[in-house]
Amino acid sequence: MGFSMKEYEVESAPDRLLADLKHGLAQPQKSIPPKWFYDEVGSKLFEEITRLPEYYPTEAERGILLNSADDIVARTSPNTLVELGAGISDKTTALIDAMHRLNGQLPWYVPFDISADAILDGSARLQGQYEGINIHGIAGDFDHHLGEIGGEGRRMIALLGGTIGNYPPAERRFLLETVAGTMKAGDSFLLGTDLVKDPARLVAAYDDSAGVTAEFNRNVIQVIATTLDLPLSTDDFEHKAVWNAVEEWIEIYLVARRALRFDVDGMDVSIAEGEHILTEISAKFTMDRLRSNLAEAGLALVDSWTDGDFTVSLSTRAELAG
Ligand code: AVJ
Repeated sequence: MGFSMKEYEVESAPDRLLADLKHGLAQPQKSIPPKWFYDEVGSKLFEEITRLPEYYPTEAERGILLNSADDIVARTSPNTLVELGAGISDKTTALIDAMHRLNGQLPWYVPFDISADAILDGSARLQGQYEGINIHGIAGDFDHHLGEIGGEGRRMIALLGGTIGNYPPAERRFLLETVAGTMKAGDSFLLGTDLVKDPARLVAAYDDSAGVTAEFNRNVIQVIATTLDLPLSTDDFEHKAVWNAVEEWIEIYLVARRALRFDVDGMDVSIAEGEHILTEISAKFTMDRLRSNLAEAGLALVDSWTDGDFTVSLSTRAELAG
């Protein structure tokens, strides 16, 4: 009853960041993984992004969940809601409410996040909001601990916000396969994906006129400089957002304003003036691509809900679908 949390051992943040940087900066196309955007400043900036007029996905998904949560949960009648990358659990109340209405009792809630602090914050808030809700937090990472999600009865495993779009194809497939591998009969997978649309709208969503996304992107330099004590300055980089029409994803880059050279734990790194460092891809989906990405991972689409800009889809494990 109440709240429990299992904290898995993850390598310390500085160690993981260092490994990611040494890997990403050694490639011909230098890159920094987008997960490092979200320190305290970056998380605040992302929240600010979600309120920008140009950035439609967050509101679109919230609207779909508010309108369709009863419909969504009625398809598989889950007793447990597992939220992958739950953060502070601010997306899920529409689903919890719908499960409560459908079952006449509160669902179990399993927030899964790399940050134990975020789980604690979100859980405290939810326990205030839903008296008697059972929460079992899991602080771990998707690569190692997805097999540990547990939960009671039929589980709905949710990956919301369009987070899947940050994963390039091979990693995306691996993540979906891992999720599928944890699913039993009766379980379902709820996925939020942004849709392909007019490139001008897409680029505007990732290069807003107020410059918040630029600040969010450049903040990762501050995260690196502070965490690893490197002589880097956000002023040395410019933000750039590009629509890749072949891959159907947005690419965001940091473009060096001048040549830079520094040492990362014994690795000599040179960045040329004008060199582009890839900091994020944000894949946009067609229903065809969504269906085939799910199918490749052994997942069968059950239904989907859209406002035309964003889609929330529900799938089950194909080999168990009968
Ligand atoms: C949180 C990954 C869904 O890709 O739209 C927003 C992150 N990056 N603006 C996205 C983001 C730049 C966002 N996700």
